[in-house]
Amino acid sequence: MKAKILFFVFSLSLIFLSCSELKEDVLAPKAKIKLTYKDDIKPILDNHCIGCHNQNADFDLSTYFGIIQSGVAFPGDENSKIIRVTQPGGSMRKYLGADSAVKAEQIKKWVIEDSLALGDIKIHPSDWVDIKSENSHGKFLRKIGYNFDQCKQCHGKDYTGGVSKSSCYACHSSVGGPEACNTCHGSVANSAPPRDLNNNFSTTARGVGAHQSHVVEGKLTVAFDCVECHIKPVALKSPGHIDTTPGAEVIFQDSSLARHKSAGFNIGEFIVPNPIYDSGNLTCSNTYCHGYFRNGNMNNAPKWNVVDGSQAVCGSCHGLPPGGPHPEVSATSCAKVCHNDVVELSSGVLKIKDKTKHINGKLNLYGYELDFSVEGLRKIVSR
Ligand code: HEC
Ligand code: HEC
Ligand code: HEC
Ligand code: HEC
Ligand code: HEC
Ligand code: HEC
Repeated sequence: MKAKILFFVFSLSLIFLSCSELKEDVLAPKAKIKLTYKDDIKPILDNHCIGCHNQNADFDLSTYFGIIQSGVAFPGDENSKIIRVTQPGGSMRKYLGADSAVKAEQIKKWVIEDSLALGDIKIHPSDWVDIKSENSHGKFLRKIGYNFDQCKQCHGKDYTGGVSKSSCYACHSSVGGPEACNTCHGSVANSAPPRDLNNNFSTTARGVGAHQSHVVEGKLTVAFDCVECHIKPVALKSPGHIDTTPGAEVIFQDSSLARHKSAGFNIGEFIVPNPIYDSGNLTCSNTYCHGYFRNGNMNNAPKWNVVDGSQAVCGSCHGLPPGGPHPEVSATSCAKVCHNDVVELSSGVLKIKDKTKHINGKLNLYGYELDFSVEGLRKIVSR
């Protein structure tokens, strides 16, 4: 009797089980279930393939990244090598062992239908987005010379997600994504530091220094572009941008605005500025902008990381009025007669009125603009 009841319960549960299985199949047919690398494919490759295809071989099937890197599987592509070699007639099918047909079909479905689904696995180290860590993806990329090729394999050629479905734009939302000019240095306002390459914000840091005093319009003059002090790259991979010598290069170019190479006029004598950046002392000397012109303060050598206003006061680059042969005039004649288009008097103090005409490489006098750059002088001489 006992046995009969037990048997009854057993068969009931069997019916129940198969019913629930059936129900599941109808609701979510087996064939539609997503195969993932972690749950379905990794075990097959680990058991049958990595004995020969591991990190020491021509190509590596031992990690998800290895598969991507080897180019044997492309999401959705039925011609992927890993499919070809495991299907009937394929050279690797024999290694799949028992149930080779089932395993080969799983590989095929995973590549074509499931687009190399990864499953619940963390690809990157846990501190991959930790700015304090040496393992952060930013630091990692810097170490490999900002080669983004690997990242693109999974995150897409345009960084919008690709197979990884994880877009770089989720965090790097400027136009160009991770290659935008303000990803590695600069801020939303402009690409000049701060932030410098080591995430410094203080103007005493050499990477930050007086950048914003130059690239943003101030009280004295208009904003200057990077080309005044650097070779400005058009894109991340432009020549001269990221090179083997660490840190930025300060390069004053002949082709930059007339300011640096402008000649101070001295009847028959030219003073040609020869700007020098001393990277040990962080000082700039012989620059036209800071007084290296006739009657200017030719020995002025401002320090890059002292940004307290002391190096931008009237009188620091040239006297008011300048010394030497410059006529000794009052502030009133300066503002009302000689340089009336550049300066004005405000409660008895000289103030720049038109910033486009101050530190523009030209002497603005009596409403005329005298271009003393080598180019400008050539024009005057040939007149
Ligand atoms: C006993 C060693 C061995 C095992 C195990 C093995 N392979 Fe290979 N595999 C090779 C060799 C050798 C080649 C290169 C010669 C060739 O193409 O036949 C190769 C080539 C390949 C290629 C490249 C074919 C091409 O056209 O370039 C793929 C893809 C591949 N194997 C996948 C696999 C997969 C998937 C498995 C597991 C099911 C596997 N292999 C198991 C030895 C092995
Ligand atoms: C093999 C594929 C693959 C490669 C190669 C790859 N990633 Fe990823 N990445 C992923 C996947 C998948 C995710 C989604 C989260 C996860 O599973 O870790 C992800 C997430 C991320 C995240 C977000 C992490 C978070 O916690 O939100 C960052 C940042 C990232 N990847 C950066 C990179 C960079 C930089 C590179 C190139 C050096 C790179 N990845 C290369 C697959 C990859
Ligand atoms: C979850 C947010 C997040 C995602 C997603 C993300 N990043 Fe970043 N990324 C950051 C943060 C935060 C920093 C600054 C931390 C640092 O300097 O290491 C950073 C810095 C960088 C830097 C600057 C490196 C340097 O030298 O200053 C690069 C390049 C970069 N990421 C590339 C990528 C790429 C490529 C992807 C997509 C594959 C990506 N990031 C996705 C948050 C993210
Ligand atoms: C007035 C001159 C000047 C101008 C204009 C200028 N820079 Fe610089 N830049 C410097 C100096 C000086 C340094 C410090 C070099 C050193 O490390 O000694 C520097 C360093 C840098 C660095 C390296 C930061 C670091 O962490 O080491 C970057 C990046 C940079 N500049 C970008 C820019 C960009 C982008 C612009 C234009 C938007 C710009 N700079 C405009 C003078 C200038
Ligand atoms: C992936 C990171 C990254 C991106 C994106 C990037 N830079 Fe830079 N930039 C650097 C690094 C690193 C340096 C320091 C130079 C070195 O290490 O050789 C630098 C230096 C500079 C300098 C100083 C001169 C020099 O080359 O040394 C300027 C100017 C500059 N970048 C402008 C730009 C502009 C403009 C863009 C956008 C077209 C840009 N950067 C995009 C990383 C980046
Ligand atoms: C950072 C250095 C610097 C500082 C500080 C400075 N100047 Fe100048 N100034 C110059 C340079 C360089 C010239 C040469 C002409 C030119 O390129 O505009 C000049 C020229 C002038 C001129 C002649 C007109 C002309 O051609 O521009 C006047 C007037 C003048 N400055 C007034 C002032 C006044 C007033 C102040 C204080 C509010 C001042 N400057 C502060 C660099 C400076």
